[in-house]
Amino acid sequence: MLKKFIFSLLVAFLFLVPGASDGTDEVSVKEGDSVTLYTNIIINQGVRIKWYYDGIFIARISGDQSNICTDVQCNEDTERFRDRLKLDHQTGSLTIMNITTEHKGDYHLKFSSSSSGKRFIVSVHGVSAAERDEVKRKIVKGGEAVTLETPVEKKTNNSLTWYFNDTLIVSGDQSQICTDAQCKERFRDRLKLDSFGSLTITNTRDTDTGEYKLQINISTGSFSIRRNTSFSVTVTADPGSGRSPGARAGICVGVVLLLVFALGFTIYHMNSRSDIKRKLQNEVL
Ligand SMILES: *[C@@H]1O[C@H](CO)[C@@H](O)[C@H](O)[C@H]1NC(C)=O
Ligand SMILES: *[C@@H]1O[C@H](CO)[C@@H](O)[C@H](O)[C@H]1NC(C)=O
Ligand SMILES: *[C@@H]1O[C@H](CO)[C@@H](O)[C@H](O)[C@H]1NC(C)=O
Ligand SMILES: *[C@@H]1O[C@H](CO)[C@@H](O)[C@H](O)[C@H]1NC(C)=O
Ligand SMILES: *[C@@H]1O[C@H](CO)[C@@H](O)[C@H](O)[C@H]1NC(C)=O
Repeated sequence: MLKKFIFSLLVAFLFLVPGASDGTDEVSVKEGDSVTLYTNIIINQGVRIKWYYDGIFIARISGDQSNICTDVQCNEDTERFRDRLKLDHQTGSLTIMNITTEHKGDYHLKFSSSSSGKRFIVSVHGVSAAERDEVKRKIVKGGEAVTLETPVEKKTNNSLTWYFNDTLIVSGDQSQICTDAQCKERFRDRLKLDSFGSLTITNTRDTDTGEYKLQINISTGSFSIRRNTSFSVTVTADPGSGRSPGARAGICVGVVLLLVFALGFTIYHMNSRSDIKRKLQNEVL
């Protein structure tokens, strides 16, 4: 009994203690996202930070900024990240841009000044290239409303920023719709954000046609995830003038045929009438 208890204690000690010194965060992202893992410190003179990926040294920064490297600059044997890594020079936080399933795993931050650090277990949900670069297409009749749905729920720490043809139209919450004059003039009061962060354009007009881009920034105190989504909106003119060229050509041919027929009918009728007249005249005479 006692032996078993001591053994259990030993096992608990071996497995719990190393884990206890380094906090662990689980980060779940989608392929194509950019992820920033926070150090939660401001680096000063004495501090040196190293990042490891599955035990491989991938990034380093020192307080005096003299000793910075990422990926192959640190370690010639690894080329896994190919310009995807970025270090914040103030905090040493690590960003993995445009992440792929190849980059899932264990990111370990170590502070040189102490034996402590931080661990991030990153899982990457794979999506097809087509899905990742997908532009959602919306076609709407002028005057009607169109809603562009966000793929994430709006929570306190998620920031959603909307652009129309690369100019900012909505940032943050409802109170930050169209803060500049150009946007106000174009959209007036026609933009609405619902509680999920989806954007509705009411009373659409043809100048609303273009690309709407949504930049999502999901943030916790420990890491942040950024994701872009694009919508292509086409506003068609009001019904009638919106007919296709083919339909319009068809209508023209129809009208011409009808005119020819009507003309033919009238001439025939006039002729037969004058025939009758002539006949009557002949009989009378
Ligand atoms: C992201 O990575 C994928 C796969 O490596 C690549 O095809 C794509 O062009 C990259 N996208 C950007 C914006 O760099
Ligand atoms: C927005 O961009 C689209 C094409 O990308 C263009 O057809 C449209 O005229 C632009 N709209 C404005 C108002 O700049
Ligand atoms: C994302 O949000 C975090 C927290 O609000 C902020 O520190 C960071 O600068 C934002 N990143 C971008 C690219 O907006
Ligand atoms: C929101 O961010 C703050 C600090 O940036 C953090 O303490 C808090 O846990 C975050 N909330 C959620 C729900 O992620
Ligand atoms: C989103 O788009 C912006 C601007 O085009 C770009 O700078 C950023 O890297 C993109 N972010 C992601 C996660 O693709």
